[in-house]
Amino acid sequence: MLAEQTREAVFEAHVRAQLEMIEARLLEAAEADTAMVTEAAQHIMAAGGKRFRPMLVVLAAAIGEDADLDDVVKAAVVVELTHVASLYHDDVMDEAGIRRGSVSANARWGNTVAILIGDLLFARASDIVSELGTEFVQIQARTFSRLVQGQIAETVGPAAGQDPLDHYLQVVADKTGSLIATSALFGAKLASPDPAVHAALREFGEQIGLVFQLSDDIIDITSDTTGKTPGTDLREGIPTLPTLLARKSTDPADARLLELLGSDLRDADALEEVLGLLRRHRSVDQARAEVHRRAEAARRLLEPLPSGPARTALEELCDSVVTRNA
Ligand code: IPE
Ligand code: IPE
Ligand code: MG
Ligand code: MG
Repeated sequence: MLAEQTREAVFEAHVRAQLEMIEARLLEAAEADTAMVTEAAQHIMAAGGKRFRPMLVVLAAAIGEDADLDDVVKAAVVVELTHVASLYHDDVMDEAGIRRGSVSANARWGNTVAILIGDLLFARASDIVSELGTEFVQIQARTFSRLVQGQIAETVGPAAGQDPLDHYLQVVADKTGSLIATSALFGAKLASPDPAVHAALREFGEQIGLVFQLSDDIIDITSDTTGKTPGTDLREGIPTLPTLLARKSTDPADARLLELLGSDLRDADALEEVLGLLRRHRSVDQARAEVHRRAEAARRLLEPLPSGPARTALEELCDSVVTRNA
């Protein structure tokens, strides 16, 4: 028992030390030629964030014995830089004023600077991933291409005759599952030569990434502590699981909710009213149940992996994705 506890404490200290190294390298990677560009490029990273993707790289790498510490740090920096770059662009597209509890880059410096800073961070991610070899460069490029196509598909909406729920799930898998899958795959490739371990961790990342976005979309409706403006998806007319489920209702008591969901929610009063109605609506519970079901399915994908503190930590990640409200 004591040996077990010591092993876990050593593991936790090891993870914490790696995350600290990653933090320092992230800020370093955003340094630029002028103080203004450096400030804008470090702004969203300095504002905080959960570091979910770096954590996944570190934990996946800890599944095997082979990982080189410096390579793990590089891989984690690459996925977080890619993520943050996509947030700079996403906040322009979603006209978001707040990110990670701070003013968004687009609100502070305007859309042009925010877009170009996103590009700068993508360039830095590409530079660092090249140090890991061409296989990693290819995975990163394909991931980014999937992420971008997910964002475009969300903007364009479902094709004529396409089921909106199928479309939404594909968008979520592409815009968010893709990079989280790659985070787990990068860690796996650095840790183990076994293709079965790579495939299991990649698929785990894909599924937990999808759940992560479903949970984010529920939180957009229910939480005031996300460091983002609640109801942003509604305001932008972006369908999410709770609203897609609510729209299927034939209950006359839902008439006002359905009317609002079909209206222009850029109006602040309408947005507040629809948020109030949705927060009490069963569609939110149904969406939460779906998140729970999918998180359990993701957890089962870990079963073939060697047991130990890394697998336990990945299992705990499944719980945190279900219970999080920020
Ligand atoms: C926000 O990602 C965008 C989504 C894909 C849901 P995170 O929820 O990981 O945001 P940070 O990194 O913690 O700010
Ligand atoms: C973000 O999606 C996905 C990417 C940046 C690729 P959202 O627009 O739903 O995320 P938030 O809620 O702004 O973080
Ligand atoms: Mg957004
Ligand atoms: Mg968006």
